[in-house]
Amino acid sequence: MGAGALASCGELADGNIAATAPPVPAFSFDEIARGVDDTHHVPPGYEADIVLRWGDRLFADAPDFDPQAQTAAAQERQFGYNNDYVGFIPLGTQADGENRALLCINHEYTNTQLMFPGLGADPRNSMTAELCAVEMAANGGTIVEIAERNNQWTPIIGSRFNRRITATTPMEISGPASGHTRLQTNADPSGTRVLGTLGDCAGGITPWRSYLLAEENFQNNFLGELPNGHPEAESYSRYGIPRGAYAWGRFDKRFDVSIEPFEPNRFGWIVEVDPFDPNSVPKKRTALGRFKHEGAESVVAPDGRVVLYMGDDEQNNYVFKFVTAGRFDPDNHAANANLLDEGTLYVARFESDGRVNWLPLVYDSGPLNEETGFHSQADVLIDARRAADLLGATPMDRPEDVEPNAQTGRAYVMLTNNFNRGENEIDAANPRAQNAFGHIIEIIEPEGDFASPHSNWEILLRCGDPARPEFGASWNPATSANGWFGSPDNCAIDPAGRLWVSTDGNDGTGANDGLWAVSVAGEARGTSRAFFRAPLGAEVCGPAFSADGRSLFLAIQHPGDIAGASFENPGTRWPDFEQNSPVRPAVLAIRRSDGGVVGS
Ligand code: FEO
Ligand code: CA
Ligand code: CA
Ligand code: CA
Repeated sequence: MGAGALASCGELADGNIAATAPPVPAFSFDEIARGVDDTHHVPPGYEADIVLRWGDRLFADAPDFDPQAQTAAAQERQFGYNNDYVGFIPLGTQADGENRALLCINHEYTNTQLMFPGLGADPRNSMTAELCAVEMAANGGTIVEIAERNNQWTPIIGSRFNRRITATTPMEISGPASGHTRLQTNADPSGTRVLGTLGDCAGGITPWRSYLLAEENFQNNFLGELPNGHPEAESYSRYGIPRGAYAWGRFDKRFDVSIEPFEPNRFGWIVEVDPFDPNSVPKKRTALGRFKHEGAESVVAPDGRVVLYMGDDEQNNYVFKFVTAGRFDPDNHAANANLLDEGTLYVARFESDGRVNWLPLVYDSGPLNEETGFHSQADVLIDARRAADLLGATPMDRPEDVEPNAQTGRAYVMLTNNFNRGENEIDAANPRAQNAFGHIIEIIEPEGDFASPHSNWEILLRCGDPARPEFGASWNPATSANGWFGSPDNCAIDPAGRLWVSTDGNDGTGANDGLWAVSVAGEARGTSRAFFRAPLGAEVCGPAFSADGRSLFLAIQHPGDIAGASFENPGTRWPDFEQNSPVRPAVLAIRRSDGGVVGS
């Protein structure tokens, strides 16, 4: 541990974190009200426009959306389902004076019963090969160029950058696990090539402007039973594979573990895509470990190494960070291209004295050796969860988005909830049993050194209704009855350095999910204000700000997904509200009517 880290720990023991939080501008907008209805809401003086909806055309040859006659060929040329991560890459002002940008958007999963007509009570039984192929084409990601015209962001259909990435797009497997026997299948005896990505939840844009997709609940898409005595049985049970939530394996044998038992080892990674070359081959970066990746937000450390923060989103799983071996070179794009293939993966142990110890997942170091069944670094990465178990990492209350703030040297960990934490399983960093509302942890990197193996931590917020003392919530008393929330999931740091938090599960508090502005500095620390409310059944993903802070992009995921909902009878018909049109996940652009900075 360096002297800097020790000095910071002294500050923590004195409880000075709030006082030392670097100042950022205050929020200023009229809060919206809590509530439940079938559409979205923004504060007075703001406008929300739809940028893209599921099924919208992306290419000149793309057919119009026809929900009654969906085909995989059409879906591959249209915007996918259940938009989650949104990355904004500014392209600057063009010769014609128009502002352009790329949006990189994940499509996490499909709500089969909301997508297709006439499936009945158990959609898995009514699925066909073609409908499963539509679902595969609706997963993955979209890269789309957008233009700012007449104060609205409009997709450029047929832009040379536009691309759909799906569950069948050819990809490379790179890094230490590439080619390992546990990644070899009948279709790919080399263990280096895989078709597609799925379960892409949050993600990231790297300092060299590549697009990262985080494969999260990949277990859902596999079915079948492993052959008796198969060596992956223990590993698969740690990841809940196969969950059998989809019918894909009935028609495509690689999703049936009884036929292709190693295929699931080829999912659960971070995927890197060069969004500037639509012909580039995406790479699964195995050095970053295999788990239920929520996101991968990055920052450059003072010495030039790049640090990525990652959550493993399941009850009692872990917070990770990856530190590249090489340094980011802003002047040499090619030199950064494979930075993510080499580095150290760490998992967090949140000590009760306010320190974080980042424990390296390195083969033949500590307990990660032959005796515990690890035979290589590839094994450690493929079974990153088991490696973290053995290292003594802190089981957390479902780590979702983790986002560093380059301006302040801090990072924010969204812990969404954990109904499985017992009374005798609480600890300092997860202080509530049956944590129904989640909490947010602030990590303080010593002197802004994001690459440090030692950090400090403090709970910023315990979520839930502060008017109900039995919930044990903690908010700044300046937070209004509309300002508190439950189940933080995604977050973003805006260009002014301010924290925004969106929720997935706030509906458990009797109000729809939404987006909140959270103050972290000075006397306002721990104050939250309600900015956006989603339509019924939806969670709010993204969020992403334009580089000038005047536009905010929100991905509205699984709208209308309430108990018993179907294509014919969704919880809402947002955003079109046409009787013959299904509910459609969509990305919104929100801006101030006067063109000013959002939230100011
Ligand atoms: Fe896909 Fe962890 O939310
Ligand atoms: Ca999420
Ligand atoms: Ca984020
Ligand atoms: Ca979630």
